[in-house]
Amino acid sequence: MDPDDHVCLCFGVSLRKIRGYLEREDPAVASLISECLGAGTGCMWCVPFLKHLHEQHQQGKPVDLRISPDVYASRRASYRKTGERPEDDAGA
Ligand code: FES
Repeated sequence: MDPDDHVCLCFGVSLRKIRGYLEREDPAVASLISECLGAGTGCMWCVPFLKHLHEQHQQGKPVDLRISPDVYASRRASYRKTGERPEDDAGA
């Protein structure tokens, strides 16, 4: 993903905003990322991705999702229809 791509599509929270939040606040748990413009508090699709980003931050790794925004959005659309996630969607 590029920095301006949205990780939380419900609330339009970009990867850049989440990176900034992680750098600034260094949250102890991933659920605190919800303080960043409500990320993860809508349809819940992005929650595993937020956890993945938090884990990368905790480990001092580059904070990124290796998935195209189009594929990401299309999987979310499917998730919203079926309530099911592809098995590989826990971390991108
Ligand atoms: S995409 Fe983040 S809560 Fe829906």
